[in-house]
Amino acid sequence: MKKILFVASECVPFVKTGGLADVVGALPKYFDKDKYEVRVVIPNYKFISSEWKERMQFVTSFYMDMAWRSQYVGIMELEHAGIHYYFIDNEYYFAGDKPYGYIHEDVEKFAFFSRAALSILPVVDYQPEIIHCHDWQTGLVPVYLKDSFHEGGFYAGMKSVMTIHNLKFQGVWNIKTVQDATGLDMSYFTSDKLEAFGDANYLKGGIVYADRVTTVSRTYAEEIQTPSFGEHLDGLMRARAGALSGIVNGLDYEEWDPSADSLIWKNYSAKTFRKDKVKNKLELQKELGLAQDKKVMLVGIVSRLTEQKGFDLIDCVMDEICQDAVQIVVLGTGEERYENMFRHFAWKYGGKVAACIYYSEETAHKIYAACDAFLMPSQFEPCGLSQLISLRYGTVPIVRETGGLRDTVEPYNEFEETGTGFSFLNYNAHEMLGALRYAEGIYYDRRRSWNLIAERAMEADFSWKHSAGQYEELYDGLA
Ligand code: ADP
Ligand code: GLC
Repeated sequence: MKKILFVASECVPFVKTGGLADVVGALPKYFDKDKYEVRVVIPNYKFISSEWKERMQFVTSFYMDMAWRSQYVGIMELEHAGIHYYFIDNEYYFAGDKPYGYIHEDVEKFAFFSRAALSILPVVDYQPEIIHCHDWQTGLVPVYLKDSFHEGGFYAGMKSVMTIHNLKFQGVWNIKTVQDATGLDMSYFTSDKLEAFGDANYLKGGIVYADRVTTVSRTYAEEIQTPSFGEHLDGLMRARAGALSGIVNGLDYEEWDPSADSLIWKNYSAKTFRKDKVKNKLELQKELGLAQDKKVMLVGIVSRLTEQKGFDLIDCVMDEICQDAVQIVVLGTGEERYENMFRHFAWKYGGKVAACIYYSEETAHKIYAACDAFLMPSQFEPCGLSQLISLRYGTVPIVRETGGLRDTVEPYNEFEETGTGFSFLNYNAHEMLGALRYAEGIYYDRRRSWNLIAERAMEADFSWKHSAGQYEELYDGLA
């Protein structure tokens, strides 16, 4: 039995701000249980709901040396859906109402978390062969593992994997503060280690020190080796190309299943969607104050409202889109300029555009089920889960050909009647509008073809099975 430890800052169902939580929450369930045991460690944030807090058991606590400080580390645990979870407790660091705040606080918080995640292992008597780290918040784990934990004994031979879910976020702060917070020797802050452009960089540390580096799609693994997508680390990514691979994310098919989803109005499958999916549309239109019309094409967006997701393109041509026979529904929170942009369009095109500027798991499910199409014109997209959910719900994705969007949505080919969605290549508003209008044409004038696209989308297999197998191979190659 191979033992693996996942270390991450978010994990469904406890805490989620984006796709990272979906992946950390789902992937451990899909390994071959006879060969791999995967446990997960995340922070015990104060805001985790009482439903989960009540189920946590206190294991023990101790004080951990951290630079010149001695810090309290509490360990809580619980088992859920067959997976063992540890929660690192420290009220000073994890008291806020969301996982991330000011970066100068976050760098200290996640240095503590990374060191604690390693320190608890002998205490809970779990000795993994591989530590699998996710994103910059855990970038110091491979560094600490090589630095202070590696000398003989319990940690000897432990390997680490660093998965990049988004290269844009690297955890960057000045060297002096980071040195003080981490207790790492000054010799670590050189350009071949943690230093980048004069600052300390957590993700860079992870990439340099991990035994293997992965990212969440094949195309993104290629893209980040170029200056356009490399976020100033493309040189490093090229240097580590031999250790780098792209494994596309899957989707938790237990959680996202239109035929069993208890949050939507009317369940449907690839066999019944022609008749039943539209009932969800009519209900959503009613709930959100859109004109109730089963014929109109309803386009959905569920997203963090950030630059990454391509909202500048939508801003540019929204007035043109709204001249067409479409309705648009947006669910998201994030940068104020995009929140206000969608509020503005909802006011300007009442009955046609609905803006839900909040976070809601339930509304998300309803939108995926109700819409005919899903728009995701990302500037870059490491993988993207929203388009996978859309495919599963027969909600035809319209995407930009980048990263995981390119790897998971097969563009419609009207001559061969193949494909599961629509796509465009360049980051250009009118190219996006062109793809949207092409989709509108198929939706209104060639309904049979549209339904076949939706049917193929629903039948495409993006369950975790295949990708979990690729992680298993990666682990086997390491141990
Ligand atoms: P990212 O991780 O970059 O945000 P992904 O497409 O990988 O993008 O994952 C986004 C996840 O977050 C999806 O599960 C999506 O449904 C969900 N999500 C985003 N915004 C909201 C929201 N406002 N309410 C509910 N779920 C949301
Ligand atoms: C990041 C990426 C997204 C990816 C998710 C999970 O948040 O932006 O594309 O799907 O991580 O890997």
